[in-house]
Amino acid sequence: MTDRKLTTSWGAPVGDNQNSITAGHRGPTLIQDVYLLEKLAHFNRERVPERVVHAKGGGAHGFFEVTNDMSQYTKAKLFNGTGTKTDMFIRFSTVAGELGSADTLRDPRGFAVKFYTEEGNYDIVGNNTPVFFIRDAIKFPDFIHTQKRDPQTHLKNPTAVWDFWSHSPESLHQVSILMSDRGIPATWRHTHGFGSHTFKWVNAEGQAVWVKYHFKTEQGVKNLDVDLAAQLAGENPDYHTEDLFNAIEKGDFPSWKLCVQIMPEEDANTYRFDPFDVTKVWSQKDYPLIEVGRMTLNRNPENYFAEVEQATFSPGTLVPGIEPSPDKMLQGRLFAYADAARYRVGANHNTLPINRPKVEAANNFRDGAMRHDANGGKSVYYEPNSFGGPTETPENKIAPFAVSGVADSVAYDEHDHYTQAGDLYRLLSEDERTRLVANIVGAMKPVTLDEIKLRQIGHFYKADAEYGTRIAEGLGLEVPAAVVQK
Ligand code: HEM
Repeated sequence: MTDRKLTTSWGAPVGDNQNSITAGHRGPTLIQDVYLLEKLAHFNRERVPERVVHAKGGGAHGFFEVTNDMSQYTKAKLFNGTGTKTDMFIRFSTVAGELGSADTLRDPRGFAVKFYTEEGNYDIVGNNTPVFFIRDAIKFPDFIHTQKRDPQTHLKNPTAVWDFWSHSPESLHQVSILMSDRGIPATWRHTHGFGSHTFKWVNAEGQAVWVKYHFKTEQGVKNLDVDLAAQLAGENPDYHTEDLFNAIEKGDFPSWKLCVQIMPEEDANTYRFDPFDVTKVWSQKDYPLIEVGRMTLNRNPENYFAEVEQATFSPGTLVPGIEPSPDKMLQGRLFAYADAARYRVGANHNTLPINRPKVEAANNFRDGAMRHDANGGKSVYYEPNSFGGPTETPENKIAPFAVSGVADSVAYDEHDHYTQAGDLYRLLSEDERTRLVANIVGAMKPVTLDEIKLRQIGHFYKADAEYGTRIAEGLGLEVPAAVVQK
């Protein structure tokens, strides 16, 4: 027995939480048992839609500390001043599986970080890979359809997966990473994170540079053996979720060093490929890593639903000093995430504790479903006004930038999808190549059309002749003559 009274959701004490009210000892249940009705009805509404991608995940709280002042590049306060500390929250995830799917499947890992800065929240919604499969947002829904379940069988469909990839050779670099040892991290603690896209940093003088984020795990990179991963998927599908929770619970706080690559603004016009193309990495010889700070995870959520399921991240959640680049994927994402949040959590998702900025959000957004704070009270609700409401701050306008050209549906100029994928293959040891080829052969075997396999073999061959030849051999096929002759 405790001193705390069990109450209804309207706060009235509950007399009996074990027996519903019936007409007589054996009689049917009475509709006047409104507590029972409320209990059953609320239970029916316990789920919100799962994320359309990245449904399965886990999260943790922590802090970020600047170790190298970035004020020469960005005025964003969270990166200014050595020693500056900012609270943050991270959510790790897999991409394609549903909420209950196994953590140890081969998939990119989501690496979504929310910084609660003194100038509002800043989200880096990245992955554990520096590149992505496609480079234009218009292809994303089609791509994800192939990663999800077949509309008839409700099974995963390898034919659709490889059909899409073979028709989208820009995916080759990311496919090669995914099929390598890095496709199944040992734990979330043992993987790097990347912002992947190019972003713009602007300093207090209004000067801009292009930037890419790298979170380097201080636990070291470790991956899982495929057989162990398959065994764990059956025996402990929540293996990564459990690992992170337990590590933090016992005080073994994981940390990452945040580094950036910085490209002078004008280099974007002359670099040897389009630096906004998210299927490519920038050479670290050209743009070396610069240390920025350190992120440490030191606190588990108290409540999974409130803090992890209701967390909403968006690449558009930006603070002064950080702006988007013209990357065509990033531009589409600027719409997709806030829209998903409004659908999945609600129009007032940013007022929930996990999403709410640590500074006051002062604006004239009012009302809407589940408005549970004071809703601005009686304060002025429009702008401009004569009653002292919050006003705009012109110093926080974006840095102006020039645009030119003819509006049209245009592809990226660059069609070399092969050099970076081939470089990756050539960097691997013989053992790593053998495992990569075996993973690809295993994944492509169930594809029902040889035409698709041959098209994809052609791409691997163009990246590296040995790479393509070994996959063709594994599948019992020949590299298409048209590719070999080129
Ligand atoms: C989650 C769309 C590309 C990383 C999501 C969600 C949507 C989405 C709708 C679910 C959001 C929610 O329900 O709260 C898109 C679109 C893309 C794209 C339209 C391309 C145009 C990418 C890329 C990355 C990425 C390139 C990484 C570099 C993530 C992560 C999450 C996510 C980490 C999970 C966020 C969380 O933990 O809540 N994406 N995505 N996505 N996406 Fe993307």
